[in-house]
Amino acid sequence: MTQTEIERATALLRAGELVAFPTETVYGLGADARNTVAVAKIFAAKGRPADHPLIVHLPDAEHLTAWASDIPRDAIALGRVFWPGPLTLILKREQGVPDAVTGGQDTVGLRVPNHPLALALLKTFGSGIAAPSANRFGRISPTTAAHVHEELGERVALILDGGTCTVGIESTILDLSRGEPVLLRPGAISAAEIAAVIGRLPQALDSTTRETAPRASGTLAAHYAPRTPLRLIETSQLTNEVCATLASGMSVAVLAWQPSLRSETRLAWVSAANDPAQYAHDLYANLRRLDNIGANTIVIEAPPATAEWLAVNDRLSRAAYGSGENDMVSDET
Ligand code: TXA
Ligand code: MG
Repeated sequence: MTQTEIERATALLRAGELVAFPTETVYGLGADARNTVAVAKIFAAKGRPADHPLIVHLPDAEHLTAWASDIPRDAIALGRVFWPGPLTLILKREQGVPDAVTGGQDTVGLRVPNHPLALALLKTFGSGIAAPSANRFGRISPTTAAHVHEELGERVALILDGGTCTVGIESTILDLSRGEPVLLRPGAISAAEIAAVIGRLPQALDSTTRETAPRASGTLAAHYAPRTPLRLIETSQLTNEVCATLASGMSVAVLAWQPSLRSETRLAWVSAANDPAQYAHDLYANLRRLDNIGANTIVIEAPPATAEWLAVNDRLSRAAYGSGENDMVSDET
């Protein structure tokens, strides 16, 4: 990627156009966060409801004061340790932040992404870039430039290609705007890692905290979803489930640690990574691949319900939501 391309992207942002760019988590659909007309284009391109707030991406932590007010000491400490990196902080907004970005709330989501292209773009642009994941609303987040093109095509003026995202799932979101820290979305940075910096574990978004929680599309139960119905199946049930599905005449695409049961045209088998970080890295590309097979149904071997799999399990349960079996996740907020 050349400096010329960064300059072209910057000129487009300044002209109020949309630029998709890579981050370490997923690709973002960016617009000048101070330009309400440009920000409106994000919602139109994604088909996203207008009251869902956007994350503002900053070149570095020094820019925080231009976007947030009453910045707590914990925010400074977390920024020092984890930025640039996959952590979004929800803080009280600075007065001038457009309602279009915050969804009309008195808070704003902020992060410094850890990708050389994103940082080069942000530094050249010199201000905040509002960017949700560069997918159509409710669909699988993109982790390559080709995914962005599949999702948004001509709806975006330019797609910067920075290869495959290293983390592969969206940033951890921590709300520091309401006294007690609340984990709104799990991600690569764990609650334990946050606790090591701020001296206490953030609360999980449960039924009590959810009532007062702001509207966050990552917290909608149905999200990150392939078109093909998807079921999460425990390891002990996997063989039975796949055999029963095939016996009923349906075709099935499987993501599992177990080796393929047998070779059959109606059965497609994708091997899952053992390590949670690698599994997360591959997750959205695997979901797209499973979806594109065009089977009647997708079956995924459920990861263990342990802390190291929390972020992956969060995305998997949302991808499965609405497909029947796994509608255990929360209601919409
Ligand atoms: O890793 C990421 O965070 C990626 C990359 C592009 O940075 N972005 C991303 O954006 O996942 P999006 O819009 O798909 O998800 C951002 C989440 C949404 O659930 C949104 O509602 C929430 O952040 N959010 C943004 N501002 C908020 C606020 N003020 N209060 C609560 N939630 C907020
Ligand atoms: Mg998203």
